[in-house]
Amino acid sequence: MSKLLNIKNLKSGYGNVQILNGIDLYVDKNEFVTIIGPNGCGKSTFIKTIFGLSKYFSGEIFFQNENITNIRSDLLITKGISYVPQVENVFSSLSVYDNLIIGSLNLEQKILYNRLDFIYELFPDLYPRNSDIAESLSGGERQMLAISRALLSNPKFLLLDEPTAALSPKFQKIIINKISELRNSGITILIVEQNAKLSLKASDRGYIFSNGKVVLDAKASKILQDDNISDYFLGKIKS
Ligand SMILES: Nc1ncnc2c1ncn2[C@@H]1O[C@H](COP(=O)(O)OP(=O)(O)O)[C@@H](O)[C@H]1O
Ligand SMILES: [Mg+2]
Repeated sequence: MSKLLNIKNLKSGYGNVQILNGIDLYVDKNEFVTIIGPNGCGKSTFIKTIFGLSKYFSGEIFFQNENITNIRSDLLITKGISYVPQVENVFSSLSVYDNLIIGSLNLEQKILYNRLDFIYELFPDLYPRNSDIAESLSGGERQMLAISRALLSNPKFLLLDEPTAALSPKFQKIIINKISELRNSGITILIVEQNAKLSLKASDRGYIFSNGKVVLDAKASKILQDDNISDYFLGKIKS
């Protein structure tokens, strides 16, 4: 398999404060990979660093064998990378439709309509909400909208930061299933999840972070089955 994303000894943070202490991680083409780890260990910082949104210190990020270290987000989007942030991922006061098109103003209309068709097919519940403001959406619908916004650029590779946080178990499952559908349609997935068991079940591999480092990298099935791993690192995973 070919590595789509390959990260070597990545160190980053905010201002002078280093948060990531040398992360090595790869994602093969068409893989679904989950990152888990305790609050504050640097998961969001890691995803933001890939997407050019935190202070880069050192290390290298390769995407399709091209060095994309510390490149601006808008250029990463043109290379096929897209990102669903953990918070503030929709414009609450704009309609569903405006949320979708606001990031696509430079798209040809035909391409835009094709993308919208793809999105409404994936999330049929969004279509009847088209003219409602995002604030009126449920938590689950809001995450669907956030994912849809990231899909407008037709990415090959999608970064998602805790898309099921604060959702009901029913919506958590729906969102993870939709992300699996996206993978099946050819999009490679790297996701951060607190709902470790749910996400690992849909994943090929998992990484466990602690204190800005990778402490375990294994097949998702192994993490789910190995009592030592799950008891030691995940506490809640068997519950
Ligand atoms: N914008 C920021 N400025 C300064 N420190 C930050 C910022 N965002 C996060 N941090 C700090 O970085 C550390 C890792 O945070 P984060 O990557 O959000 O962790 P996680 O996503 O694993 O919960 C925490 O100590 C947090 O306080
Ligand atoms: Mg986070």
